[in-house]
Amino acid sequence: MTTLSVVYHSGAGHTRKMAEAVLAGAASVDGVKTQIIAIEGKDIVDGRWKNDKIMEKLDQSDAIIFGSPTYMGCVSSQMKSFLDATSERYLSRAWVNKVASAFTVSAGLSGDKLNTLMTIALCMMQHGMIWVGLEQTPFNDQGINRLCFYMGAAGQALQEPLDEAPNEPDRETGRLLGVRVASLTKKLKD
Ligand SMILES: Cc1cc2nc3c(=O)[nH]c(=O)nc-3n(C[C@H](O)[C@H](O)[C@H](O)COP(=O)(O)O)c2cc1C
Repeated sequence: MTTLSVVYHSGAGHTRKMAEAVLAGAASVDGVKTQIIAIEGKDIVDGRWKNDKIMEKLDQSDAIIFGSPTYMGCVSSQMKSFLDATSERYLSRAWVNKVASAFTVSAGLSGDKLNTLMTIALCMMQHGMIWVGLEQTPFNDQGINRLCFYMGAAGQALQEPLDEAPNEPDRETGRLLGVRVASLTKKLKD
């Protein structure tokens, strides 16, 4: 059985919607067990995030897809604090050869989302993980990858209101990322 985790932080709930779409895609692949994990500010004490239960769940995952809103052109501080906490796994090389990918949501069409995806990708390269990006181009009538990112999936949502954003095409983009990461992870394990 292949195990895939979606781990995300969301301030107002937009990134959570994207996380649920990514999870649905991954869960649709036969033979892949999925779980979704929220990073929460309450686990940050004196600037350091700590939650051993979450880390152990991630240790047991074959693939991890990370999600963060883009805040001031980068990952949220909660996500950065979590990424810093993965340094113990960096030292023990616990995540080498796991599969990694990412998604982000921000208000602008670009909104400097690329820096968020690259920040996560760079961290996972330090871990020795295998990065999987998005394969779809924006050249389709469904709005899939309409924002044209390849490092991962991107969605757009203003801070208010929560309602339907990120929209259906963005969530479908996230779903397809989940399918791709789950399928490739399963192939790697075979
Ligand atoms: C502190 C803060 C900083 C933000 N910085 C950016 C930014 O750099 N670029 C952008 O496009 N949107 C920015 N936004 C808007 C959020 O990315 C956007 O509302 C997103 O949907 C929030 O996701 P969430 O609901 O998961 O927290 C910012 C919002 C906040 C609260």
